[in-house]
Amino acid sequence: MPRIPGGTEHRLTIGELSARSGLAPSALHFYERQGLIESTRTSGNQRRYARDCLRRVAFIRVSQRVGIPLAAIRTALDSLPDSRTPTPKDWARLSAGWKDELDRRIADLEHLRDDLTGCIGCGCLSMRSCNLQNPADVLGEGGSGPLRWDG
Ligand code: FES
Repeated sequence: MPRIPGGTEHRLTIGELSARSGLAPSALHFYERQGLIESTRTSGNQRRYARDCLRRVAFIRVSQRVGIPLAAIRTALDSLPDSRTPTPKDWARLSAGWKDELDRRIADLEHLRDDLTGCIGCGCLSMRSCNLQNPADVLGEGGSGPLRWDG
């Protein structure tokens, strides 16, 4: 991928944004239609994107990859100033708003990675360890779902 010329003031073409972000122009147009990113137009009516749009696109991609819905991503991005490049403080404020949600997802991912070999307290009684950790589904008296995961 050739480096994009110019500094922070350089406005990107859709081709540059696509090449550097790794997303197809059609996906970027979709993000724009969803109000997640925005562009300006040249006198020739061509789209141009601020360079910090690359960070927004990267944020959207990773958020989607971990299952964050587009609506939540849009709400988060809406908290960023659109009249200037977001500062580290702006981004810190954004991620602080997601901390609990992300912590929960991390815990779920860790359970899936590390804890599927034992009893998860779901009521199935199908694992040998269920006899010890959830005899006769005693955990079921306290709620529903994988109670050894959900605490
Ligand atoms: S794994 Fe389902 S009750 Fe133990």
